[in-house]
Amino acid sequence: MDYRRTYLRDLMQAQPGGQVSAYGWVKTRRDSKGVSFVALNDGSCMADFQVVVDAGTFDGADWDAVTTGACVRFDGELVASPGAGQAVELKATGMELYGGADASTYPLQKKGATMEFLREIAHLRVRGNTFGAVNRVRNRASYAVHRFFQERGFQWINTPIITASDCEGAGAMFAVTTLLEAPEPGQEAKFKLASQDPADDFFGKPAYLTVSGQLNVETLAMGLTNVYTFGPTFRAENSHSTRHLAEFWMIEPEMAFCDLEGDMNLAEEFVREVIKDVMDHCEADLAFFNQRIDKELLTTLNHVVNSPFERMTYTEAIAALEKSGQTWQFPVAWGSDLQSEHERWLTEVHVGRPVILTDYPKEIKAFYMRANEDGKTVRAMDVLVPRIGELIGGSQREERYDVLEQRIREAGLDPEPYWWYMDLRKYGSAPHSGFGLGFERLIMYLTGMQNIRDVIPFHRTPGQAAF
Ligand code: 4AD
Ligand code: MG
Repeated sequence: MDYRRTYLRDLMQAQPGGQVSAYGWVKTRRDSKGVSFVALNDGSCMADFQVVVDAGTFDGADWDAVTTGACVRFDGELVASPGAGQAVELKATGMELYGGADASTYPLQKKGATMEFLREIAHLRVRGNTFGAVNRVRNRASYAVHRFFQERGFQWINTPIITASDCEGAGAMFAVTTLLEAPEPGQEAKFKLASQDPADDFFGKPAYLTVSGQLNVETLAMGLTNVYTFGPTFRAENSHSTRHLAEFWMIEPEMAFCDLEGDMNLAEEFVREVIKDVMDHCEADLAFFNQRIDKELLTTLNHVVNSPFERMTYTEAIAALEKSGQTWQFPVAWGSDLQSEHERWLTEVHVGRPVILTDYPKEIKAFYMRANEDGKTVRAMDVLVPRIGELIGGSQREERYDVLEQRIREAGLDPEPYWWYMDLRKYGSAPHSGFGLGFERLIMYLTGMQNIRDVIPFHRTPGQAAF
């Protein structure tokens, strides 16, 4: 069997005539007088491919096993379809059953299964319309991310997944250690600690799964100018929200010779261009989401593509929130972090489109953000979008050695492990900026999906690492 495949998507576009083979999984089978219709899907597109089987063409156990979920190949002639809904169909003369799917137990046959139920069968849900579409959109969006940066001369670099430094300085990291011996399968379920001394550990000191590639991506920008990293990041926050994962993918561009203004311009252009690319290439999938998941989806996406993002300072946002007349679950006060309810009001009600907030109080932002002259705020920017809240977090970076050292200390951190990061300020420092975009949040935005657990094939959240 060759890997080269005529996908069903391509068969559906082909001219009638000629012998073809169609590989896929059975969505439905309908038997009527004299003829059976099999809807086949291989995940290459939303639409199912129609296979027509005249009565008597096949018989026996294999043909009986062609039911929802079965995997099968049909051979035959591609003919013009008399029915509405497709231009061509396959008139089957041969078939091979690869694997049946027992109709009494196959979990994916019920219509209208809940998202919660589908999460429990994440190994099978990709065969349904929703998760096929989610994964196709995810794929196209990844491609669009690389395309966007490559077309603008940004070089893709890879930052480490295991790190000894806490980038955000906020904790919430997973430790990586060989000192803790996990229980062997079948053994007593207890961890054994080989040593209490971090010096005995694999790396000779405590190590973690990275929360962000930023510190490393900055070092590469200070030599390659415009770079980006796109990889998995990890946060051990005990959050059960619909917008947090313990393992998620982040896109982090970093630009030398760029200030906050340029950073915001890149963020805005980036979000818009990726959305446009996906709209151009995943039309049927987005139409499905618009019909089945969020009736406002296409309106929202068109709106984002066509209108500039609002920009305001944190201080202006606080003033607007205070004047809103809303009652908040979390009180609004200058100096405290914005909660999701505040972010959503700002973007959904106050401006009605994406908004970029800048110049946050330094106490609520990471140590690496460039200090403003006022001594109170830093050159931070967050991009907030309706329904999701924070999509992007970024900043201009502190490029002055002394200021950075002081900020690290103020944050209660020890400058020593950051020596290499500080060296960048010692040798050939330059103004530079960047941001991080949470890829799953972007996919939520693109698809209208309500829960972040449903836009990644296998989600990791507190208490959940199945599959
Ligand atoms: O705002 P954050 O924490 O920013 C950083 O990590 C910076 N170091 C990025 C940089 O400047 N290079 O995270 C960036 C984005 C958030 O805006 C959000 O979209 C996403 O990452 N994010 C999460 N997505 C899913 N689950 C979580 N637990 C997330 N935490 C952050
Ligand atoms: Mg943030």
